[in-house]
Amino acid sequence: MLNMMSGASCDAPASATVAKDRRHVWHPFAQMREYLSLPPLVIAGGRGGWLIDSEGREYLDGNASIWTNVHGHRDPELDDALRAQLDAVAHTTLLGHTHGPAAELAAELVAEAPAGLEKVFYSDNGAGAVEVALKQSFQFWQLTGRPEKTGVVGMAGAYHGDTFGTMAVGDSGFFHERFRPWCFPARHFPAPRCREHGGVPGEADATASLAALRELLGREAGRTAALILEPSVQGAAGMRLQPPGFVRAVAALCAEPEGHRVLDEVFTGFGRLGSILVCKQEGVTPDFLCLAKGLSAGYLPLAATLTRTSIHDAFLGDHVSGRAFFHGHTFTGNPLACAVALASLRKLRALIADGVLARRAAAFARAVSSLAGHPHVGELRQRGFTAAVDLRRADGGAYEPARRVGLQVCLRAREHGLILRPLGDSLLLVPPLCLDEGELAELVARTRRAIDDTLPFLP
Ligand SMILES: Cc1ncc(COP(=O)(O)O)c(C=O)c1O
Repeated sequence: MLNMMSGASCDAPASATVAKDRRHVWHPFAQMREYLSLPPLVIAGGRGGWLIDSEGREYLDGNASIWTNVHGHRDPELDDALRAQLDAVAHTTLLGHTHGPAAELAAELVAEAPAGLEKVFYSDNGAGAVEVALKQSFQFWQLTGRPEKTGVVGMAGAYHGDTFGTMAVGDSGFFHERFRPWCFPARHFPAPRCREHGGVPGEADATASLAALRELLGREAGRTAALILEPSVQGAAGMRLQPPGFVRAVAALCAEPEGHRVLDEVFTGFGRLGSILVCKQEGVTPDFLCLAKGLSAGYLPLAATLTRTSIHDAFLGDHVSGRAFFHGHTFTGNPLACAVALASLRKLRALIADGVLARRAAAFARAVSSLAGHPHVGELRQRGFTAAVDLRRADGGAYEPARRVGLQVCLRAREHGLILRPLGDSLLLVPPLCLDEGELAELVARTRRAIDDTLPFLP
């Protein structure tokens, strides 16, 4: 049993874990009645791109532990960085003083970011990073004599997190709909429609999206505080792809003095799309850049919001001016998380410079494209290390949502040693970036096997 081996997180037998889990743990994004009806899976360890359950069975971590994992589990260099920091101090606050890892990481993030982003505000999750950007933008306009600029524009289908501010600017349908009455109003412009197969761009329709955005910004002229965008790929919307040049075009439409450009790279940053930051790849300097997930390589909760010195400086004043940014979290800039993020960033730079990441991304694209033409696969969307596989009936129709076909395929995938999460009847493939070309092909082969074992037998 792995939980008796070194590397296990806890010595409790799996049956005790399951019993306590079932009795006490309310799981995120779960219909708990459904969760409790499903076979339990207790993860006891991990190594590289693999997770190991309490019975010693191994699974490819096909969702990178919810889109966070970069170099794999128990990466020796990251573990060493963490141990070294543990020998110094595990946690000390950034309220009133500082520490080496936070200062050093801030400097490294600024070096990675497009020129002009020089200030780093830490928090500890993606929603937090976005909330910080929104609040800083809102306060900036008040401090600079433009209090009428309160409007926020987002893109249809956007997901920026589950706190009230991020729900307000997001557009995640039934995830958030019931909370609308408590959310501040935000406007949304339509997303482009872009089909890709195996990484090859097909026809794209960004024209309508950009025209609608231009019209919306014109109508709201002078009242927009910020526009927020997940650049290149909207992850939680089901890996919705934007055509080349789209991010730049959106940023150009919303250039100052219209409003701040907020790029949410919580999902796309840190190698997920092949580069450290998509905005740099796209040649766009936002006013706010939101980072989390891969920032700490999937090890510890850490997030950061980068912004311009000119925005930061608008908050300066004496103590009684009330200009300070009154926002913070207990674990803001935790030293362990910052130490592991520094180690991860250095390792990632080397993988990109050596071309290793590009070769793996190409291998992933090839593997995913092999699913094209499968009778139960509809649209395929892939970019970098992310893909969505839309499931469909052999006659091309959609399944009834209540049948939970995506979930059924993911449960079958588990039996083939693969952990995947569905989004409705789409399978989201989000591998850790450490998987080698053979493992990436295996991930897709196991996905195909799970589809083949399940869908042809459904009435
Ligand atoms: C683009 C984007 N922004 C923000 C978030 C929220 O991050 P967190 O779950 O860490 O709050 C997510 C989570 O998936 C995301 O994909």
